[in-house]
Amino acid sequence: MKKLIYTLLSWVFIMIPLVAQTDLDESIKILHGPYLQNVGSDEATIVWVSDKPSIAWVELAPDGNDSFYAKERPRFYDTRDGIKTISRIHSVKLKNLEAGTTYRYRVYVQHVLQHKGISVIYGKTAATNVYTKKPLKFKTNDPSKPSTSFAMVCDIHGNSDKLSRLISKCDVKNTDLFLFNGDMASILNEEKHIFDGFMDTATKLFASQTPMYYARGNHETRGSFASEFYKYFSNGEDNLYYAFRQGPVFFIILDTGEDKPDSDIEYAGITLYDQYRTQQAEWLHKVLNSPEYSDAPFKVIIGHIPPIGDWHGTVEVKNKFMPLLCDAKPDVMLCGHLHRYIHQKADSQTPFPIIVNSNTSIIKANATSTELKMEIINEEGKILDTITIKK
Ligand SMILES: [Fe+2]
Repeated sequence: MKKLIYTLLSWVFIMIPLVAQTDLDESIKILHGPYLQNVGSDEATIVWVSDKPSIAWVELAPDGNDSFYAKERPRFYDTRDGIKTISRIHSVKLKNLEAGTTYRYRVYVQHVLQHKGISVIYGKTAATNVYTKKPLKFKTNDPSKPSTSFAMVCDIHGNSDKLSRLISKCDVKNTDLFLFNGDMASILNEEKHIFDGFMDTATKLFASQTPMYYARGNHETRGSFASEFYKYFSNGEDNLYYAFRQGPVFFIILDTGEDKPDSDIEYAGITLYDQYRTQQAEWLHKVLNSPEYSDAPFKVIIGHIPPIGDWHGTVEVKNKFMPLLCDAKPDVMLCGHLHRYIHQKADSQTPFPIIVNSNTSIIKANATSTELKMEIINEEGKILDTITIKK
């Protein structure tokens, strides 16, 4: 009898975990984001971070002047393998969207106080504001759009004020997308290096509503938090290198890895970038031979380390990526890394121009099917150079 009572009591404790009322009353906040990643013509990923472990979801509504809750909106949960993800970092890939279409969205988090046995105890909920502010919006890419505009910054090294100054040189509402071309932080040892360094500023200025595409630099590969990078950027994708089309431009985003050999003392035996670049070159070969590449009026390559100089990372870019690119003849390659501006014109060896943006300027570009015009603008708003490529 005693054994039976003991067994029953054990089950009660397993089935009904104890949570204090103060825990149930504890508030939850969305600390960072939401921001857009991997926006395509039929999909978009939304990323956000809460201050406590939570489940999370996105509510999606078509664009319109009606109330966000004119009717119940479909929910898209952050899940993995059929289970809602309990985490502080959340990302949801919205699929089967229409090209060139604006959507309204709202993100939620719900605190998970305890998950024990077959019991989950939920706490409070937080969400982005759709009542006293307009709901957040994004627009999917449209390959048939006759023109597009984009802007690129690089080598911010955690200076969010500099990022603000450079972005202020753009008409954000009329910029289709932003490119972060590496070294946005100097090292990734903890989450705050992402958000204090640049991403909270980017979210405030544009990234909740205008897509940002990230080409990892060599500095984002450093630090104990570097292996978490994919959870914040490109989560749900196979790799950190990828390609996409917006309007007349096909963009290829390369990950050029570290600048020194993998055996360098600075990497402490934790990196394998030579192997990674070899695998990436196999992917690049396929992309450069795809109809998506050949059909686009303009082809723009984004990569942090330029094929200029003789450091190991540079030599790798020269040996593994450049022969493929020279065969495929893109219209331009945009790089960073060197902290100085270089415009290397096309020549018999490299049949396309290479533009290296400095750490104190932004490249603003407009493209139609017959012209790609780029302005290089410094922090004071002075146009340092203008480059026009015509078809
Ligand atoms: Fe760099």
